[in-house]
Amino acid sequence: MEHVLIKPDDFHIHLRQGKELVNYARDASKSFARVLAMPNTIPPVTSPEDIKRYASHIKKAAPSLDLIPVFKIMPDMKEQDITLLKKAGAIAGKYYPRGATTNAEDGAKDVESVFPALAAMEKIGLVLCFHGEEPSASVLDRERAFFPVVEKIHKNFPSLKMVFEHVSDKATIDFVHSFPDNIMAATVTLHHLLFTLDDLMGGGLNPHLFCKPVVKTKADRDAIREVVFSGNSRFFFGSDSAPHNMEKKLAGAAGVYTAPYAVEALATLFYNNGVLEKLEGFTSVYGADFYGLPRNKGTICLVRREWIVPEKYGDIVSACSGMKLEWKISQ
Ligand code: NCD
Ligand code: DOR
Ligand code: ZN
Ligand code: ZN
Repeated sequence: MEHVLIKPDDFHIHLRQGKELVNYARDASKSFARVLAMPNTIPPVTSPEDIKRYASHIKKAAPSLDLIPVFKIMPDMKEQDITLLKKAGAIAGKYYPRGATTNAEDGAKDVESVFPALAAMEKIGLVLCFHGEEPSASVLDRERAFFPVVEKIHKNFPSLKMVFEHVSDKATIDFVHSFPDNIMAATVTLHHLLFTLDDLMGGGLNPHLFCKPVVKTKADRDAIREVVFSGNSRFFFGSDSAPHNMEKKLAGAAGVYTAPYAVEALATLFYNNGVLEKLEGFTSVYGADFYGLPRNKGTICLVRREWIVPEKYGDIVSACSGMKLEWKISQ
């Protein structure tokens, strides 16, 4: 049995920097045509030069993979900076509340400090992506505690398009629906579709499933599944694949590595829930449409074949290590 898809995009991935980027980009290029590679690298992607350099590093590592450029919104950015970033190809800016996640120590202390940047983004038509967690709230409440910030942004910038990244909470699904559909979309990861707190820490603690936002209850996971399986076009794929080496993982780093097999795991999940025909919209259509990008021309062919996700890709432990998948991309 075969299933052909328009080649997927990953609208939220971490490719890092330096020599690790080479493997991460190659792993991603097997499944994805384009990646919105997050700018929380060291140093961050904040300038037109950074965007050009990052795109060329990715091209060199994996020639078939295209970067969808996004910059990190810094507190002091002015309209002029945003205009130049757009000229350099940026289609989005990413907002990190200070201290909310990996490499977010330089994020904005309060959302008002990025209002000049947001005003410029609204004016010239850039999308705002945000890590939607309020870091001062308790861990399971952080996503919903961020809603007032989003409401404040929307009130001040009503035509700014936004993507609520890696939604993890049942309440967030309703929250996203409460905005106009051309204004608010959301990315959904593989791990938030697959796992719950019990997988993370119901038996032994599994640090390779630890991410931010943390995976939540079965009710949360099921609400995410329901909206995705229904083929709702506001919810599209962003893996948030975020590799950390063992030393960093054991020191508490948040992030799971899923990019190398995410599409095959999604095909398995969708197939087993009787909704394989909804996969292509999720991985290859809705995100491009929301961002106003053309759909990819190429395709991938999935074949029905059992295989086991390896423990490691290079020196990075995979989040789904040992999982039996039933679909494989044919080369
Ligand atoms: C990198 C990592 O964990 O691989 N993390 C990151 O960019 N957030 C750090 C590094 O490569 O030095
Ligand atoms: O788990 C996560 N890891 N969540 C994020 O928001 C950032 C990411 C990372 O960069 O490691
Ligand atoms: Zn994030
Ligand atoms: Zn991320």
